Amino acid sequence: MKIRSAEISDLDAIVDIHYRRFSSFFLTTLGKSFLKAFYQAFLIKPGILLVLLDNNEIKGFAAGSRDNRNFFKKLLQNNPLGFALSGVNIFFTNPKALKRIFTNTKTSQRVSIACAELLSIATLPNKQGYGKALLDYFEKDIILHNKEKLPISLTTDYENNEKAVKFYKDCGYEVFEVFESYQKRKMYRFIKNI
Ligand SMILES: CC(C)(COP(=O)(O)OP(=O)(O)OC[C@H]1O[C@@H](n2cnc3c(N)ncnc32)[C@H](O)[C@@H]1OP(=O)(O)O)[C@@H](O)C(=O)NCCC(=O)NCCS
Repeated sequence: MKIRSAEISDLDAIVDIHYRRFSSFFLTTLGKSFLKAFYQAFLIKPGILLVLLDNNEIKGFAAGSRDNRNFFKKLLQNNPLGFALSGVNIFFTNPKALKRIFTNTKTSQRVSIACAELLSIATLPNKQGYGKALLDYFEKDIILHNKEKLPISLTTDYENNEKAVKFYKDCGYEVFEVFESYQKRKMYRFIKNI
């Protein structure tokens, strides 16, 4: 098993794993070209994009930010062409989604504390601890360039999400708040001081 920073050639595999593991999520409904533009933007700081390989194949990934302050604005700036092209496509195929992207972006900027943030993590089903290894590497990577000693934050669904909630608690994350996201979706925000 090996974990490293992602490269542009890893994006298709990352998008495929996202599709398989987040099949019912809003971002997935925006299509593969949007997801590719989205994850590509994490290749540039303050983004972080990691991949886990086993037998030379990508089996998982983690995406996040070193600093959540204005992060989504910076993410857009990291890949303006990619977002513009996929945005035009969404405008014609699913215009209501643009409103939700805008609302989600505004909501996620409303976090009351400065933190590093894990924004997406997924592994292919395994019995080898891929997820824990990825999260551990992600935390160590954050610590390397964390002058302000920001904690790590993440959000995850409150309902029907026992596996991920247990995973985060086992990894030392504590509930910071429970809040309502778009269309009253109940969410946890977890925090870990590192
Ligand atoms: C949440 C998620 C990232 C966790 O990753 P994971 O790889 O499943 O988690 P783990 O690191 O605990 O490892 C998986 C299994 O390996 C087992 N394991 C851990 N270390 C091991 C080791 N050293 N040797 C053998 N088995 C091991 C674990 O017990 C676990 O078994 P389980 O699935 O029966 O509980 C993953 O389940 C996932 O992608 N879920 C879908 C997407 C998602 O919900 N993401 C988070 C939403 S915010």
